Amino acid sequence: MLFISRSPQATQAIGSKLGEIIKPGDVILIIGELGAGKTCFVQGLARGLGVEENISSPSFVLLRQYNGRLPLYHVDLYRLEKLPEIADLGLDDYFYSEGVSVIEWANRALELLPAEHLLIELKIVSARQRRIALTPEGVRYTELVTHLKDMNISGFDK
Ligand SMILES: Nc1ncnc2c1ncn2[C@@H]1O[C@H](COP(=O)(O)OP(=O)(O)OP(=O)(O)O)[C@@H](O)[C@H]1O
Ligand SMILES: [Mg+2]
Repeated sequence: MLFISRSPQATQAIGSKLGEIIKPGDVILIIGELGAGKTCFVQGLARGLGVEENISSPSFVLLRQYNGRLPLYHVDLYRLEKLPEIADLGLDDYFYSEGVSVIEWANRALELLPAEHLLIELKIVSARQRRIALTPEGVRYTELVTHLKDMNISGFDK
């Protein structure tokens, strides 16, 4: 599933739709270069999930928890130095909980993250344009993307 976003608001709107339909235990991996809009997407997702707090970039903290309709665990692996670190962090307790886990810079530790997930890749096309690709891994996430398609997110479809 592919979107072209032409503003931060559009990226948030797509994230928000996902936040509305996401279920307990869902894992969302987000990758994309610096400034691609990963946190922007998570802000929308949090809004769709009913989180009222502002989402900041957790770069200096590995994980922040927010509470909406479900708990939201926002992880940012940007500062991760080496792989063993993450294995010691006990993140699995979050990934396999009733909350929703969203992981920025997931490419830094792909082999340690749940094999079944929704992958979101953001690419900078131009100053305000982003290409957003959603790739499901596993039955649950294929179902999630189908659900998102059924929502007909107007204006963003490629
Ligand atoms: N279409 C767009 N979608 C998302 N962000 C956009 C878009 N156009 C411009 N921007 C700008 O790009 C920046 C994205 O910042 P954001 O913090 O979300 O990126 P990030 O991928 O999380 O970066 P980092 O790797 O530093 O965590 C913001 O300044 C935002 O205003
Ligand atoms: Mg970020």
